[in-house]
Amino acid sequence: MSSDSAADASIESSSKTATPLLRIEGVSKRFGTIEALQDVSFDIYPGEVVALLGDNGAGKSTLIKIISGTLEADSGQIYYNGEPVVIKSPSEAKALGIETVYQDLSLCLNVDVVANFFMGRELTHNVLGFKVLQEREMEAETEQVLGEIGTEIPSIRTNVEHLSGGQRQAIELSRFVHWGGKLVLLDEPFAALGVKQTRRGLELIERVKERGIAVVVITHNMIHAFQVADRVVVLRNGRVLGIRPAQATNPEEVVRLITGEIARQSA
Ligand SMILES: Nc1ncnc2c1ncn2[C@@H]1O[C@H](COP(=O)(O)OP(=O)(O)O)[C@@H](O)[C@H]1O
Ligand SMILES: [Mg+2]
Repeated sequence: MSSDSAADASIESSSKTATPLLRIEGVSKRFGTIEALQDVSFDIYPGEVVALLGDNGAGKSTLIKIISGTLEADSGQIYYNGEPVVIKSPSEAKALGIETVYQDLSLCLNVDVVANFFMGRELTHNVLGFKVLQEREMEAETEQVLGEIGTEIPSIRTNVEHLSGGQRQAIELSRFVHWGGKLVLLDEPFAALGVKQTRRGLELIERVKERGIAVVVITHNMIHAFQVADRVVVLRNGRVLGIRPAQATNPEEVVRLITGEIARQSA
């Protein structure tokens, strides 16, 4: 073995032995007679982007909802940083640093970007026993964070209702990063976005990843998936059909997995 390949091997093994940020083990979920998820297992590591792919009804959103505490699994176990956890609500998920970022569901439309950024975490100081907002500090911090993550908003004093879907998503994602988020879940984040906004969104995922944050992204667009994903997880009828490093597969193979042309393979 040359010294080069030995070095490669050690990098390889160190990444393999690291504890996953999140481990999903044998998760099942049923809605009446529908088996939405059956014995689903996969890991996600810090700074990794996993594309969760599958046809309509494959169980993608159900899985995301279980991870984010919106739905409870019938069976299976979730581990966070190696520890077994039970995520009973979105606020419990949030406390762990796990959040689903939607376009605007958690933003207040009739207040500005700064207010949204600091919602519930406002900076205040005491003046004669009254709490006074530190507006300039909050403005500066908002500008800085949005700048760092490369989000362009014309004015952070604009009410969110006047911003585009892409800008709203970017604000949510920046806010998530700034307040210590560890795993962000994106369920078809580009579905309502135009071409340019989608490109920005994909760039944003890259930047979030660079900060060591893990990303699970659901998309129907193979080009988008392969542009950002380190690994792809393919679901079909609630089962994991394949887990592949993105470099070891291609859109054609994934489409054949999704449609069932390729039967279940090593997961
Ligand atoms: N709340 C629910 N009640 C009943 N059935 C549901 C519910 N949510 C999802 N399902 C069913 O579970 C399956 C998986 O749905 P979903 O996770 O939304 O799929 P995907 O996001 O991959 O399109 C589908 O058959 C869907 O109809
Ligand atoms: Mg869905």
